[in-house]
Amino acid sequence: LTSPIYIFIVDLFINLERRGGGLARGIYDSLREAILDGRLAPKDRLPPTRELSEHLGVSRHTVTTAYARLTAEGFLEARVGAGTFVVPMKGSFSERRAPSANVLHARGAFREALPIPVEDDVTELRFDLSICFPDATLFPVDDWRRYMARELRPSAMRTAGYRDPAGEPRLREAVARWIGLSRSVRAGVDDVIVTHGAQQALDIIGRVLIEPGMSVAVEEPGYPPARRLFASLGATIVPVPVDNEGIIVESLPRRTRLVYVTPSHQFPLGMPMSLERRHALLAWSNQHGAAIIEDDYDSEYRFENRPLEPLQSLDCYGRVVYVGSFSKVLSPVLRLGFLVAPASLIPALRAAKQLSDWHEPLTTQNALARYLNDGALRRHIQRVRRIYRQRHEHIVHFLDGPLGTMLKGIPSAAGLHISALLQDPRASEDEIVRDAGKVGIAINGLARFHASHPTRRGLVIGYGAISLERLDEAMTRLSSVLKGSLSRSAG
Ligand SMILES: Cc1ncc(COP(=O)(O)O)c(C=O)c1O
Repeated sequence: LTSPIYIFIVDLFINLERRGGGLARGIYDSLREAILDGRLAPKDRLPPTRELSEHLGVSRHTVTTAYARLTAEGFLEARVGAGTFVVPMKGSFSERRAPSANVLHARGAFREALPIPVEDDVTELRFDLSICFPDATLFPVDDWRRYMARELRPSAMRTAGYRDPAGEPRLREAVARWIGLSRSVRAGVDDVIVTHGAQQALDIIGRVLIEPGMSVAVEEPGYPPARRLFASLGATIVPVPVDNEGIIVESLPRRTRLVYVTPSHQFPLGMPMSLERRHALLAWSNQHGAAIIEDDYDSEYRFENRPLEPLQSLDCYGRVVYVGSFSKVLSPVLRLGFLVAPASLIPALRAAKQLSDWHEPLTTQNALARYLNDGALRRHIQRVRRIYRQRHEHIVHFLDGPLGTMLKGIPSAAGLHISALLQDPRASEDEIVRDAGKVGIAINGLARFHASHPTRRGLVIGYGAISLERLDEAMTRLSSVLKGSLSRSAG
């Protein structure tokens, strides 16, 4: 997929000191190898012979001889008036590489490849209910561009050296104030560390807390990127079932030293953790000397005004690390998130952040700080929350009405998705997801969010990327798919 480029002389590694064969042979060998192993791509344009000869300090004839031989052998073609170009070769460059019997292997946690999103995946299906992140068409492009442009002024860019790994104080303060007011998180500027999304927050917390073989409890079903991350850091993952109040505290093994939960909006089922359960979890963690990660990834999109206190503010034992993200509220492509930790962990977390990537880009941090302080984020949330609420209500309308006998929605008052359980024990989740694909609907089943054998079967209906009009058609089609599947299993 490499696009052709104009090859500048400085781009070219040419080894004139090859064993025997003279200077022309050195140029020929270097270029031939670069074409064969893919460093030079089809249609790349090579530098003119005169420029290359001057650069290498050899006669032009030497370079012309090398080019002529490569052309005669079909590696290059000269186009009059246009230059010399690499000819497309058959086979990918990895196929052309000599196979090695002794390849390197990654550690076990990295053997299974992760599904990497491909941009086109999303657009191929006409009704995308698989997206639980925000609608890209609602991103406040003009506002964000203005805030970024302002931070790119020369004085802002003349900052020498690296910055505080915890993040710019201005941004940390803005985040602390924002989550203090909107989510009742108790945090001062020194309790906040700005990260590349929630995922990096989880990574640095894991680096600081996880010893090899340590038991880390995750919700079952739960958020696969968190579970896989902790496993990659050497943890033994313990999936702990959730009921309609959240993680079942009595099922936490005594040896667990870290518990990862999503109390505001359980991922993927969607219900909040009850207040009673929150207190029970905090008491359990204190009794067992365990830490809790509270991932509050999407509570800005709350459609009912009865939020429960976060674990972080109920915690009087200093056990909770709170994690937030700007992926749902703005966009996952910004890669912005943060954590709020007890003072006892801050120095280590700051060190882990520094060892990982030092800090977020300065311009982005400053732009976000201003965006928060000006109230621009609140205005954005107000605007888009109305739109998501309509989508949310529309799905609930289908679940309470035409889909009701087949799918039971799990009440949830926030976020960008609703989960619903299949009512007929004979219905096959896999088959429904497959059949939905055939009528243009992308949707996830609950199975993929389980670490062990799924105990519930159902669908996760994401409404981040689908307009209200298309949602209507998608839900109607989904009803037909469900009816078809159920009548087959009944027959
Ligand atoms: C449970 C959960 N946590 C966190 C995130 C956000 O992660 P990040 O900030 O790394 O994009 C998501 C996004 O889908 C999520 O579902």
